Amino acid sequence: MHSLHLYQWGYNMESAIKFIREKIGDFMPDTGIILGSGLGDFADNFDSIKIPYSEIDGFEKSNVQGHKGQLVFAEINGKKIIMMQGRYHYYEGYSLDAVTYPVKVMKKLGVKTLIITNAAGAISGDYLPGELMFITDHLNFMGTNPLIGKNDDTLGTRFPDMSEVYSKELIKTAVNAAEKLNINYQKGVYVATTGPSYETPAEINMYRILGANAVGMSTVPEAIVANYCGIKVLGISCLTNYAAGVNDTPLNHQEVIDTADKVKDNFKKLLTEILNQI
Ligand code: HPA
Repeated sequence: MHSLHLYQWGYNMESAIKFIREKIGDFMPDTGIILGSGLGDFADNFDSIKIPYSEIDGFEKSNVQGHKGQLVFAEINGKKIIMMQGRYHYYEGYSLDAVTYPVKVMKKLGVKTLIITNAAGAISGDYLPGELMFITDHLNFMGTNPLIGKNDDTLGTRFPDMSEVYSKELIKTAVNAAEKLNINYQKGVYVATTGPSYETPAEINMYRILGANAVGMSTVPEAIVANYCGIKVLGISCLTNYAAGVNDTPLNHQEVIDTADKVKDNFKKLLTEILNQI
């Protein structure tokens, strides 16, 4: 299945790029942003060119609640940005090829820096719902890897180094931006599961022992592919809830959406300031 997909993506990519180029003309995005749960409307604040995923070769239709499913091209503080309003999740049944295909398209469009955002559960006691966490590293517990299959040598090497997936320099930039705005932040390790079920308390305990500070169902595939392609990555988690077993409350998606909604004004300010400083 993987090789079949790759074969297909290989063909679609060129026509996807051509199609996007026709829509955006000489707009050359150099920074990409993947907007996570509850944060999608950041993209609504700017004059932009929008392209629904459904119109682009190789993009699957995105159907998760709260996500629009389109590429948004906008200039923010003089920076040319491409945003994903809605992302593909592995738990929806998409292959990791489909999940990470937009990152490869961004690379072909000239993107050098990618900001990946998500909602995540807080694993350690010092990390609180409502806080933002800059991702310093990850644990891939998805049990698979987006680079499995035939390697595309035009994008990256077969066995790419992953010793600094999340750019230290970009974390410094993000820290500076947060401090300037007086926004509280954390730094930590993000563990990715497939979902869609939330974790059990025993699983969260295991992840804590292994060094994870936050848990979510996204980001890692896109970060691996971006790093493989030579795109610098900044990962920001919006901690929306205590992970399972940290307190006695059962988890639900509404809580995730509600917290992300409360944090989103700070998140937008921070993103804008980070774009200023990049
Ligand atoms: N677990 C996994 N994914 C999540 C969580 C969580 O607790 N919160 C938001 N996304």
